[in-house]
Amino acid sequence: TRTQVGIVGCGPAGLFLAHLLHRAGIESVIVESRTREAVEGTIRAGLLEHWVTELMRDMGLGDRMAREGHAHDGITLQYGATRFHLPLDELTGGKRVTLYPQHEVLIDLIAARLADGGRIHFGVSDTAFHDIETDRPRIAFRHPDGTPDELSCDYVVGADGFHGPGRRAIPAAERREYDRTYPFGWLGILAHAPLSWHELIYARHEEGFALLTTRTPEIQRLYIQCDPRDDIANWPDERIWAALHRRLETAGDWKLADGRIFQKGIIPLRSFVCETMRRGRLFLAGDAAHIVPPTGAKGLNLAVADVLVLSRALEAALRRGDESGLDAYPATALRRIWKAERFSWMMTTMLHVDAAETPFEHRIRMADLDFLAGSRNAQAAVAENYVGLPF
Ligand code: DHB
Repeated sequence: TRTQVGIVGCGPAGLFLAHLLHRAGIESVIVESRTREAVEGTIRAGLLEHWVTELMRDMGLGDRMAREGHAHDGITLQYGATRFHLPLDELTGGKRVTLYPQHEVLIDLIAARLADGGRIHFGVSDTAFHDIETDRPRIAFRHPDGTPDELSCDYVVGADGFHGPGRRAIPAAERREYDRTYPFGWLGILAHAPLSWHELIYARHEEGFALLTTRTPEIQRLYIQCDPRDDIANWPDERIWAALHRRLETAGDWKLADGRIFQKGIIPLRSFVCETMRRGRLFLAGDAAHIVPPTGAKGLNLAVADVLVLSRALEAALRRGDESGLDAYPATALRRIWKAERFSWMMTTMLHVDAAETPFEHRIRMADLDFLAGSRNAQAAVAENYVGLPF
């Protein structure tokens, strides 16, 4: 099959790219190793930056988000007995964030893509990039019934996540990569429970970080810092609730409402950047090129930012033969990527408890929070990053 842009990965990066290209009159095809049900049913991130919600609205993809998403005009932070409100909207000239889960975004974008006649092949296997250094790169794959197929493209994009074939199609010796692993994991739960608070709460407790967030008025999402090598089997529901109550109920007489847990799991935290985001006619976007720890909710938003830059560059190349945008893509994308890496690292470091931290470092972290609680300038810097940096 011929197409202009072949995309591996039907996550936020791949889908936003396909929509942006379609809007510019450029054809693309997406191949995805998971089934449509798996893509639409996996619960992941939840928070959209201000400009992402505007982009969705401008693309005609924002109707359900407007009805079912929840705009938040502030966040709550907490340490010891201190709880404070950080007014995102006041500090950013009226910007907010919207809680609208990633899988709901994907459901809406997949439906709209298919309604537009877009092609997405789900459940494929043996996906491989070929001839990326020629002007006719290819993506080979097998359909779910085993039939081999191939996309012959002008450009190919690895929007296929940290473990996908995209980044590995660039020889390891030629990739410039940076990473940091943290001695922290997040144990996340979904529970049938009422809302406990009108905002997200990010808490630093001497036992470890805790985050209260939400999905719907009836379903709450909560996270606690844990050992990344710990086994979820060591965490019966009562132990999780006990930790959440201890870590979150430190300010006044506020109480956390609990309920029945229906999903739980542990994820490791890491920071990673592959600065080599292009080789020949292959371009990387989203988690294929970079990972942030979840604190601050930058991952999905950063993937969308990559493909906004990439879609404009592909449009210039395919419509006008102007490749200057493609040449500049890694450098342009990396300026935003490193700022998101910095912010996610800063939020993670400030809010988590590291057993290897010296008493000096511990006091610096507490002073970070104390400064943030009392300084409008410090809060404005956090708010500016949290709602999404301008382009
Ligand atoms: C959520 C996750 C985050 O990492 C975060 O910083 C805020 C919200 C969430 O899952 O809702």
